[in-house]
Amino acid sequence: MTGQVVVLSGPSGVGKTTVCDELLKKPQFARVITATTRPPRAGEVDGVDYIFLSKDRFLKDIEAGLFLEHAEVFGNLYGTPRNSVTEFLQKGQSVLLNIDVQGAETLRQSCEFPISTIFVLPPSLADLEKRLRGRSTDSEEVIQTRLNKARVELAELHHYDHFVINDHIDDAVASIFKILGIDPSESPNLEDKKQPATILLGVMGSIAAYKAADLTSKLVQKGHDVHVVMTDAATKLVDPNTFLYLSGNRVHQDMFDENQIGPIEHIALTDRADLIVLAPTTANGLGQLAHGLANNMLMTMLLAANCSVLICPAMNPRMWSHPIVQENVKKLRDFGYRILTPDSGRMACGHTGQGRLAEPPEIVAEIEAMLEEQFKVSG
Ligand SMILES: Cc1cc2nc3c(=O)[nH]c(=O)nc-3n(C[C@H](O)[C@H](O)[C@H](O)COP(=O)(O)O)c2cc1C
Repeated sequence: MTGQVVVLSGPSGVGKTTVCDELLKKPQFARVITATTRPPRAGEVDGVDYIFLSKDRFLKDIEAGLFLEHAEVFGNLYGTPRNSVTEFLQKGQSVLLNIDVQGAETLRQSCEFPISTIFVLPPSLADLEKRLRGRSTDSEEVIQTRLNKARVELAELHHYDHFVINDHIDDAVASIFKILGIDPSESPNLEDKKQPATILLGVMGSIAAYKAADLTSKLVQKGHDVHVVMTDAATKLVDPNTFLYLSGNRVHQDMFDENQIGPIEHIALTDRADLIVLAPTTANGLGQLAHGLANNMLMTMLLAANCSVLICPAMNPRMWSHPIVQENVKKLRDFGYRILTPDSGRMACGHTGQGRLAEPPEIVAEIEAMLEEQFKVSG
């Protein structure tokens, strides 16, 4: 992991956002999309501007440890998804977080990643006041509140690893590169690492569902962002929390989830997916897909998807060899679905034959081959 978490703090009006925007123009830095309970404003897109969550969902995600840091601002919650940070750092990029003094201190003490905290200072308080007045967006009362808050924040400067004075934006940005030991003129060596992808993993009601947990773990370790969708039958065999903790993302089951807000979630998720993997796929699942039946969230997503799909069947050998199942397999192959032929061996039911779910390393290899092919095509 060569990237680090870079925290920028400073009083309101000091120009942190401009500094961040300048740094983010360089590929050494990545922007993490913040999750929030604030309702979307006109034109804002879920998953692009912010990840919009209900308050209930946000609180559950805090409990599950899904945020690297979170804070409440004017009654709305904001949080940095931990899995996005991991993904960028593994790729070798640094992650910029523009957070307040209190949040920075908490994060500095708890962060499991390499971290640098930088305080952005105005040349003087008089200059800050001039900038705040120059924005002509705030009332006199708000300006005085901001200045008082700035005085309090400045007293916390000693908690920071570094400070820079934002007199001229170019100088401030150059100082930050220098502090972090980054040469902005160099192209970082990111392209030789595998592209992380957003993978939707559909888990169905097969006894082999436990192997999907291992698969999730292996994909996450490779830097992929894994979102698990389970059928009802699958949840009877493996606890959804297993996937929540392994993937760092909430697990989707119910299309009519009351916590869902923003654009229809199953469509938004399929839009973001680079690849859908169905592992394990049941005989029932093959039949549903081959006939365009969308009576659960996973099947609905599959019909709405426009990315490649890898199907990894798992079932009793007699089920696998049943002519109806084989006809469904053929139909799906003809439609362009990639089907990983199941392994042969002894099954949990005691029968021996073909029908065992392919082993997770084999599935991972197939996924990586499909992603590589896809990224090559898309350039
Ligand atoms: C313990 C257990 C193991 C099962 N294993 C499989 C299996 O490996 N493959 C399969 O096609 N069905 C299996 N089934 C049957 C499916 O769970 C059943 O057909 C279910 O309706 C599938 O629903 P889904 O496709 O929505 O997940 C199993 C059922 C039980 C109770």
